[in-house]
Amino acid sequence: MRTQVGIVGAGPAGLLLSHLLALRGIESVVVELRSRAYCEARQRAGVLEDGTVRLLRETGLGARLDQQGLEHGGIYLQFAGERHHIDFRELTGGRSVTVYAQTEVVKDLIQQRISDGGVIEFEVTDTEVDHLDTDRPVLRYTRSDGTRCELVCDAIAGCDGFHGICRPVLPDSLLTITEREYPYAWLGILADVAPSTDELIYAHHERGFALHSLRSCTVSRLYLQVGPDESIDNWSDDRIWAELQCRLALPGWRLEQGQVLDKSITPMRSFVATPMRYGRLFLAGDAAHIVPPTGAKGLNLAMADVTALAPALDRLLRGKPELAGSYTATCLDRVWRSTHFSWWMTSMLHRTPGGDDMEMALQLSQLRYVVSSRAGATSLAENYTGYPQLRLHED
Ligand code: FAD
Ligand code: DHB
Repeated sequence: MRTQVGIVGAGPAGLLLSHLLALRGIESVVVELRSRAYCEARQRAGVLEDGTVRLLRETGLGARLDQQGLEHGGIYLQFAGERHHIDFRELTGGRSVTVYAQTEVVKDLIQQRISDGGVIEFEVTDTEVDHLDTDRPVLRYTRSDGTRCELVCDAIAGCDGFHGICRPVLPDSLLTITEREYPYAWLGILADVAPSTDELIYAHHERGFALHSLRSCTVSRLYLQVGPDESIDNWSDDRIWAELQCRLALPGWRLEQGQVLDKSITPMRSFVATPMRYGRLFLAGDAAHIVPPTGAKGLNLAMADVTALAPALDRLLRGKPELAGSYTATCLDRVWRSTHFSWWMTSMLHRTPGGDDMEMALQLSQLRYVVSSRAGATSLAENYTGYPQLRLHED
């Protein structure tokens, strides 16, 4: 079998790449380990930068996003018993973010690819990539009915997330990994209750970080800092709500509780792998880099990578290799900016286990600076709302 671009992974990166390539008349096949239902239900990120929203609209994916996405002009930072608003619109000349769940972005992308006649093979196993240093790289996989398939491609995109098979294929001698693990994790819940706040609340607390986010007028999303090896079995719904009540408490304000619809624990790490290309294999999204979720950047970075990759592959397939040659460098500027911002937000808001009074005092001083200095607040607002979006059509 033959296709132009073989794509491993039907997460936001792989699906959007397939869509952007189709808009350029380039055929692709997406292969995915999980079922469609699993991909569409996996609870993850929720905040889209301005540029990501614009990209989705410009490429015909804005209909449900415009109906259901919730535009947010700021966030609250809470610490030392005070809640302060950071007004993004005022600080950045009108920029905002949109709360629209990753599950919805993935549903929209799958629906669009299928109605455009795109091929997504769900529930494949034993995915392999081969002949990457030739002009005809090969993608092999086994369908759920047991058929072994071999796809001969012009290029392969490794969009298979942090635990995928593509990044480990790069020779050790070529790959540089810069990594940090954090001594904590996030426990996230989805709750059937109206949000108790109009904007997201990022709360610093002596018992650890907490975040109040939302999904709609009737569904809330909340997170708690927990230990890195914490088991979800130790967290009954009552214990989760009690901890959220404690860390988010503010006189005169009430956190409403509801049925917990989903709960999971996510480890936190910063991870950057370079280069993002080996021969005709290109990595994008979590396959190449991970940020801790405190800056709400992971999903946006994955989308930005493939926005650069689509024109690079288009040109490469027409015999012009320059953009493909600069793909890693193009992505890395944004990757490192997001890595720094995510580390900065994380370090300012979380309690290190065994952390001393000095850590606490430095965090509180930094938080006070951010909420009281226009320069400090503007820096947070600029980074949170995102960096200039790559142009869609570079040729
Ligand atoms: P993914 O979404 O991971 O997609 C990769 C796809 O590849 C998956 O569907 C996977 O099943 C598939 N795959 C893997 N191996 C193979 C294989 N061998 N063959 C075929 N397919 C394969 N970001 C935030 O901003 N806020 C958050 O709250 C947040 N929470 C997160 C919670 C979790 C548990 C995780 C893992 C990430 C979270 N993120 C969050 C980060 C954000 O969701 C990711 O950055 C985003 O999903 C990256 O998209 P992607 O397409 O690169 O990778
Ligand atoms: C959400 C996730 C984040 O990582 C974040 O920083 C803000 C909001 C969310 O899932 O809504």
